[in-house]
Amino acid sequence: MKSLFNQNILCIGAGYVGGPTMAMIAHKCPQYRVTIVDINPERIAQWKSDRLPIFEPGLDEIVRAVHGRNLFFSTDIEKGIREADIIFVSVNTPTKTFGVGAGMAADLQYWEKTARQILESATTDKIVVEKSTLPVRTAQAMERILFSTHSGVRFEVLSNPEFLAEGTAIQDLENPDRVLIGSRQTESGLKAGSALAEIYANWVPRDRILTTDIWSSELSKLVANAFLAQRISSINAISVLCEKTEADVTQVARAVGMDNRIGPKFLNASVGFGGSCFKKDILNLVYICQYYGLNDVAKYWNSVIKINEYQKAHFVETMLNAMFNTLSGKRICLFGFAFKADTGDTRDSPAIQIAKRLIEERAELVITDPQALANARTDLKGVDGNVQFIEDPYEAAAGSHAIAIMTEWRQFRELDYERIYRSMTQPAFIFDGRNVVDHRKLHQMGFNVYPIGKPALTNL
Ligand code: NAD
Ligand code: UDX
Repeated sequence: MKSLFNQNILCIGAGYVGGPTMAMIAHKCPQYRVTIVDINPERIAQWKSDRLPIFEPGLDEIVRAVHGRNLFFSTDIEKGIREADIIFVSVNTPTKTFGVGAGMAADLQYWEKTARQILESATTDKIVVEKSTLPVRTAQAMERILFSTHSGVRFEVLSNPEFLAEGTAIQDLENPDRVLIGSRQTESGLKAGSALAEIYANWVPRDRILTTDIWSSELSKLVANAFLAQRISSINAISVLCEKTEADVTQVARAVGMDNRIGPKFLNASVGFGGSCFKKDILNLVYICQYYGLNDVAKYWNSVIKINEYQKAHFVETMLNAMFNTLSGKRICLFGFAFKADTGDTRDSPAIQIAKRLIEERAELVITDPQALANARTDLKGVDGNVQFIEDPYEAAAGSHAIAIMTEWRQFRELDYERIYRSMTQPAFIFDGRNVVDHRKLHQMGFNVYPIGKPALTNL
C-alpha cells in the first residue's frame, strides 16, 4: 500500500450518503484524491452539473469548492477500483421485495455486485469499507467473495456505518457525535482500521473516533436507527392517549425529556416517521432476530413499525371524523411531501401513504412542497385520482376544505394564515401532522384545528 498521503479514495454509489460524505472528505483532506462512481450515468451527470441530484443545505457550496480539485465524479467503476487504495461502498440496500425475506430482509444484490466488481477489477491491495447499512455479519459474505480467487491481491474489509441525517448531513458530517470503525481484530484488520481512522482524524477529534470489532459495528448502526425510531413511536403512542385524555403531548414530552436519563431530543410527536432508513433497518433487525429464532425480540422491535403504521392510519381517521365522515369531492391540500424538512427526499414519507388513503376516500388532492414536488409526482404516478402539484402554498390552499401539514418546513410556520383562511372553503380545517403552527391563533382566526396529541380546537 502507498503512503497515507496522496492516497486515492473511491466511493461506489453517488447517493444521499456517498455524495455528501465524500464531498466532506475531499473538503477536509485536500491531500487525498476522492472519486465517486455510480452505475447511473444520469446521477453522475447531475453531480457534475449546477443542479445537484439531491437537496441538502450547505452541500452545493462544498461540492463547488472541491469538484475538479480533489473530488471527481465518474461512471468508470473499473478504473476507479484499479486506482483506489481505499474503497467506500455506499450503494443502496433496500428492503427485499421478492423471494425469501421479501418485505423484511435487506436486498443485498447491489452490494454483492459491487463486491464482485471489486474482485474483478482490483490489481493491487485494497481496503474495502462498508458505508452502506448492512445486516450484521455481511462483512463475512463480502470477504468470502473477495477471497474467492487466488489473484494475490489482498483485501481488508471494514465496517464504517454512516450516521448522518438528511437535511443536516453537512453539519452531521462536519461535527459527528462519533465515527464508528469496525475491523477484524487481526494485525492487518487493526492496521486497516487505523488507516481509515487517519482519514477522519483530519477533522474529527480522536476521542470521537470509535474503533471496535466488525460485527458490533455493523449491528450498532441498525440498533441506533431502531432506538431513534423507537422514541418516535413511543411518543406517538402516547400522543393518541393524550388526545383521549386532554393531556398535551408537547407538555408530556417536555416533562419526560427533562429527565437527563431520557433527554429531550427525538420526542416530537408526528404523523409518523418516514425516510429511507428507519423502517428498512428495523425490518432488517426484526428479520435477523427471527433468523436466529429470537421471536419475542423480533416482535418487540416490530411493534415500533406497527405503531408508526397505526399513527398514519389514525391521522386519516381523525380527518374523516372531523370532516363529517366524508372526504369525497373535498379539496385537501397537503403542506409538504418530503419525509422531513430541508430535504427533497420523499422515500417512505408518511405523506405518500396519507395521500393514497385520501385518494381512496375520493378527496381531491393539492400538494405543495418547496423541494419535493418532482419526487411527489413520481411517487403518485399511476395513482387513479385527482391530484395537483402547486409550488405556491397560497395558490395550493385556495378553495381547499382542509390543510394537512405533512412536513415541518419553516416556510409553513411563516405563512399568512389569515389570507389562507379567507381563501378556503368554509368551515376550514387544519390538521397539523407536525405540531408546527400556532394552534390557538389559527383557532381564533376561525380554523378548526386538529394537532397531534392535543385537544382539537374547533369552531363548529
Ligand atoms: P441512494 O439510493 O441515494 O444511493 C445509492 C447509489 O448507489 C445509487 O445512486 C445507485 O445508482 C448506486 N449503485 C447501486 N448499485 C451500484 C453498483 N453496483 N455500482 C455503482 N453504483 C451503484 O442510497 P443512500 O440513501 O445514499 O443510501 C446508501 C446506503 O447508506 C444504504 O445502505 C443506506 O441504508 C445507508 N444510509 C443512508 C442514509 C440516508 O440518510 N440516506 C444515512 C445513513 C446510512
Ligand atoms: C435517520 C437517522 O437519524 C440517521 O442517524 C441515520 O443515519 C439515517 O436515518 P433521517 O431518516 O435522514 O436519519 O432523518 P431523521 O431526522 O432521523 O428523521 C426520520 C423521521 O423521523 C422523519 O420523518 C422525521 O420527521 C421523523 N421524526 C424525527 C419525528 O417524527 N419526530 C422526531 O422527534 C424526530
